[in-house]
Amino acid sequence: MDWGMRNRIARMFPTGSGNTVMLAVDHGYFMGPTRRLENARTTIAPLAPFADALALTRGILRTSVPPESTTPIVLRVSGGATILKEDLSDEVITTPIAEALRLNVCAVALSVFVGAPREHQTLKSLADLVSEGEATGMPVMAITAVGKELEKRDVRYLSLACRVSAELGAHLVKTYYCEGFDKVVESCPVPLVVAGGPKLDSDRAAFELAHNAIAQGARGIDMGRNIWQSEHPVAMIKALRAIVHDKATVGEALSILEREKKVAPTPRPRAASA
Ligand code: R5P
Repeated sequence: MDWGMRNRIARMFPTGSGNTVMLAVDHGYFMGPTRRLENARTTIAPLAPFADALALTRGILRTSVPPESTTPIVLRVSGGATILKEDLSDEVITTPIAEALRLNVCAVALSVFVGAPREHQTLKSLADLVSEGEATGMPVMAITAVGKELEKRDVRYLSLACRVSAELGAHLVKTYYCEGFDKVVESCPVPLVVAGGPKLDSDRAAFELAHNAIAQGARGIDMGRNIWQSEHPVAMIKALRAIVHDKATVGEALSILEREKKVAPTPRPRAASA
């Protein structure tokens, strides 16, 4: 692996724990103005200093992140379907590698929809992107997307989707946590980070997800809604950092959350649910 690619990966996985806390704010690319991400700039600004990377699209990067920012960027480069359509797997590459290089990002990310109607199309996109990434020093993160079929997220399916992604050359895979996650880790030869999924019932549940994933071999989280749909997003990301980087227990994370609620910026007014 050439220096450029190694450098990009190192920037996303800072020294110390070697793990990463990515902040996912790319939901609008198929969900539109997701609750509490309606104004991306406002959501991202207080959280960016505590993220090891921001996962977003070129549109949100250009409009909502100041170019002075030093937070590494993971650029989503796939899209083309929205939640208004039945088949979310109909994605293509929406941003060329040349633009990712110009935007000085640390990695590009795309969804693969294993088992979905457009499986072949998305896997071909991954393979093509890896070829370009290898040629230019740009790491590629595959995202094992399930669209609306959240029930797909079990050990058998995720092991298959992650392994296929790695076989096609992904340098990093974003997937979901599941029962038996250690088996997903064991059969995937590249680092895994986990998404949070829709907002969970409690902060404890989000901490348990992150804690169990790290304990079973994940190299980090790439979490969105369980952070920025919280009443206290900054306190939430700080507590998650303790789990990912400092091996904090769930109980310790809850204590950090309570402590940080008192020092974090005033919580936003409650928005109508969506
Ligand atoms: C889907 O919109 C993206 O891949 C998200 O980045 C991913 O699902 C992580 O965000 P969350 O933790 O909200 O699921």
